Amino acid sequence: MLKFDHVCKRYPEVGDVLSDVTFHLKPGEFAFLTGHSGAGKSTLLKLIALMERCNRGNVLLDGQNLNKAKNRHIPYIRRKLGLIFQDFKLLNDRTVFDNVALPLVIAGHGHQEISRRVRASLDKVGLLGKEKKYPLTLSGGEQQRVGIARAVVNKPPLILADEPTGNLDPELSAEIMKLFEDFQQVGVTILIATHDIPLVKKMGHRVLKLDHGRMVAS
Ligand SMILES: Nc1ncnc2c1ncn2[C@@H]1O[C@H](COP(=O)(O)OP(=O)(O)OP(=O)(O)O)[C@@H](O)[C@H]1O
Ligand SMILES: [Mg+2]
Repeated sequence: MLKFDHVCKRYPEVGDVLSDVTFHLKPGEFAFLTGHSGAGKSTLLKLIALMERCNRGNVLLDGQNLNKAKNRHIPYIRRKLGLIFQDFKLLNDRTVFDNVALPLVIAGHGHQEISRRVRASLDKVGLLGKEKKYPLTLSGGEQQRVGIARAVVNKPPLILADEPTGNLDPELSAEIMKLFEDFQQVGVTILIATHDIPLVKKMGHRVLKLDHGRMVAS
């Protein structure tokens, strides 16, 4: 599903932030990405989402070499990804429904199909009935779940989450993680960057650990 092969990423100002990173995620695998602040977790996720490009090595998604992807193909590659960010990145002047519908609108689906899939997705995260609300009228946990509903609405085979529980209390964090486990149950591959070591230990999934840009455990 996802393969990093001797990947290096360098920012001219700071030098190598990922050095010789190699790992492989199989379809349907659930892995955490951990490591100290500045270890390179977000950078690694950005390489997969083609928000950045690596300097050496190869990143392969579904057998496709992302280094060789042309810029105009990036939107198509991103459709394979459900991206979830710590700061939600919701559009605050749009309703919950419109936020979740966005990927389907971009993909050109019809009204009925969009309505059906948005409701199914909101139902999945326990937010059916909040379609007409605006993000800022929801709690942090609810906003995060809107972000998750949007990320999964077009059924991507790979979910990438960057500190998805960073702002949430332990109970809500556990709920969000349970949601990711539900997606894994139906075959989705999951990669979650997190600082929350107690939660990682409790859940018992595979752990990829970065230390100053090097993969020290996988
Ligand atoms: N766009 C950028 N330009 C220059 N340096 C960057 C850029 N993005 C990240 N860095 C540097 O790369 C290193 C890794 O950053 P990254 O955000 O990947 O760490 P992280 O593991 O996600 O940290 P955190 O846990 O704090 O989110 C840091 O030293 C950071 O300053
Ligand atoms: Mg980060």
